[in-house]
Amino acid sequence: MSSTLLVTGAAGQLGQRVIHHLLETYKVAPGGIIAATRSPEKLADLAAKGVVTRKADFDDAATLPAAFAGVDRLLIISTDELAVPGLRLKQQTAAVEAAKKAGVKHILYTSMPAPDGSLVSFAPDHLGTENAIKASGIGYTILRDAWYFDNFLMGLPHSLEAGKWYTATGGGRTSNISREDCALAIAAALASDTTESATYTLTGSTSLTIEDVASVVSKVTGRPLEVVQANDEQFAAGLTGAGLPKFVVDMLVSADANARAGKFDILTNDFNKLTGKEPQTVRAFFEEHKAALLG
Ligand SMILES: NC(=O)c1ccc[n+]([C@@H]2O[C@H](COP(=O)([O-])OP(=O)(O)OC[C@H]3O[C@@H](n4cnc5c(N)ncnc54)[C@H](OP(=O)(O)O)[C@@H]3O)[C@@H](O)[C@H]2O)c1
Repeated sequence: MSSTLLVTGAAGQLGQRVIHHLLETYKVAPGGIIAATRSPEKLADLAAKGVVTRKADFDDAATLPAAFAGVDRLLIISTDELAVPGLRLKQQTAAVEAAKKAGVKHILYTSMPAPDGSLVSFAPDHLGTENAIKASGIGYTILRDAWYFDNFLMGLPHSLEAGKWYTATGGGRTSNISREDCALAIAAALASDTTESATYTLTGSTSLTIEDVASVVSKVTGRPLEVVQANDEQFAAGLTGAGLPKFVVDMLVSADANARAGKFDILTNDFNKLTGKEPQTVRAFFEEHKAALLG
């Protein structure tokens, strides 16, 4: 008998693509998939295909064991709650406790690369959740997603207009991967029937400096882009001046410091192991998203 799979955060960008790949790439029967979200009304298209939809809000812990009832393999997609320190860990720990109460057999979780010893402001949320999963005694697959290429699309249209890209990475390398490739590998892990516990780090095939990325962006768009290395204080002042809230500024500055310290310079072939494919290159990613770069 095949397993019943549940994806939390099913209305989010990653969640939607994981479910797409379960259905279309791994040919999981729609009735074997439960798409759980805070907003089931957003999932009418999936419900019409025969996917079961349920409400699951990690802030409403008491309702979660019922939301996870009958589930064999549970994918917990990390939440985007970063504004209130400690809240994301509380949310995700509630999900793990509910999984235990509901008798879930295997938990998958979307973490970040090397959360232990990381300088990134939200690393303790990921490390704490990984530890809660391990302490639950339930079999697990941790999927540590490298920084998405997609994150670059937020600031790059502005940088291209100005012709300057401010960073505090100091030449540190990061092994970025696309969100789409993360979704493919996560769907592969969820659709598999392995009961072994494992930790994978999903990275692209090369580790890149911001100068490397800027050079590719310049070639793809035909526009000049100079990288300006700043220190933490200068970088924070620029982000604050651009109107970003303090927790976002802290997050971005800490992520650049982590890159500068070489802590994102991690390359694995875990994506290939899970999917049997090569990850998308930075060049192919920006070719695909050229219109978004040119704003
Ligand atoms: N590696 C990277 O570069 C990178 C970049 C961005 C984000 N991330 C992480 O990966 C996750 C998915 O990314 P994304 O691109 O899909 O971001 P997104 O579209 O902003 O998704 C946010 C996700 O958080 C879920 N969520 C928020 N509050 C929740 C709650 N109270 N209970 C349950 N789920 C809750 C949402 O679920 P519903 O709306 O369906 O309830 C949604 O799946 C993010 O939440 C973040 O932890 C990683």
